[in-house]
Amino acid sequence: MSLNPEKAILSTRPELFDFHGVSMTHYFTDNWENVQNFQARPDDILIATYPKAGTTWVSQILDLLYFGQTCPERQNNIPIYERVPFLEIAIPSLDSGKDLADKLPTTPRLIKTHFPVQFVPKSFWEQNCRIVYVARNAKDNMVSYFHFDRMNAIQPEAGEWNNYFHRFLEGQLVFGSWYDHVNGWWKKKQNYSNIHYMFYEDMIEDTEREIDKLCSFLGLSRSAEERKMISGGVQFDKMKKNEMANYSTLPIMDFKISPFMRKGKVGDWKNHFTVAQNEVFDEDYKKKMKDPTLQFRTEI
Ligand code: A3P
Repeated sequence: MSLNPEKAILSTRPELFDFHGVSMTHYFTDNWENVQNFQARPDDILIATYPKAGTTWVSQILDLLYFGQTCPERQNNIPIYERVPFLEIAIPSLDSGKDLADKLPTTPRLIKTHFPVQFVPKSFWEQNCRIVYVARNAKDNMVSYFHFDRMNAIQPEAGEWNNYFHRFLEGQLVFGSWYDHVNGWWKKKQNYSNIHYMFYEDMIEDTEREIDKLCSFLGLSRSAEERKMISGGVQFDKMKKNEMANYSTLPIMDFKISPFMRKGKVGDWKNHFTVAQNEVFDEDYKKKMKDPTLQFRTEI
């Protein structure tokens, strides 16, 4: 894969548009037909998230769980976006995520998506694939997405914080509304048993426990020692330094503006929200998050 995306990409931010009722940009819709025709295999594992919910963290854990013993050199030599391709991404002059996924030599194939549930290619459902969904509390998710949009040349400009805050509430960000995303996947879980729905905050609280739950879901038996090693290997500071996990090899991100591995904490929203914004947010949240069975935690 060439690592020199065309200069035009780096100087022009994409426009947001409505795509089947969801705000998207062309980088994630240009390959729509091919992506919809993606042929999933029964043992494929899909990692699904709203952007910035902890996708890379869980991807690294799954990669270690499956391949840490058999091909440990993977983690040192292959960037995370090639080990766990991003299904819907299509950047001119780079391999599309779908092509990378098709070419994956490993079994199982680990594949990432940010699609809302209704956009997932039908073969994943037909093949009854296992899906790991990671959700993160809305306030921290918003803050993380804001900094990501500031530094990522293939995302629309973040602009000024207060405006971004309102765009988040209105679902005017790439991959649409956080509220629709987390609720849509939660609802799907009620009639599709192969979804493991997990939370970023739980991972922060006890990574080893969450790895244990992942192993149960995936039918993997890993010793307590192995689980401990994986948990230690994916702690924030380690992943931040790891070039194969921290996206520093992808030339569309400007780490001078903000690093990909930024803070890795629960509660950073308190450094961004004003008191007034927090009130507006909480009021709006109550209206949109009506299902009492879906509970997020903000305090750890
Ligand atoms: P922050 O911007 O709040 O630091 P994604 O992988 O879905 O894009 O999510 C990125 C967010 O997950 C970033 O959040 C990043 O720092 C955080 N993250 C990545 N690896 C992590 C880890 N090992 N521990 C804690 N947070 C991690």
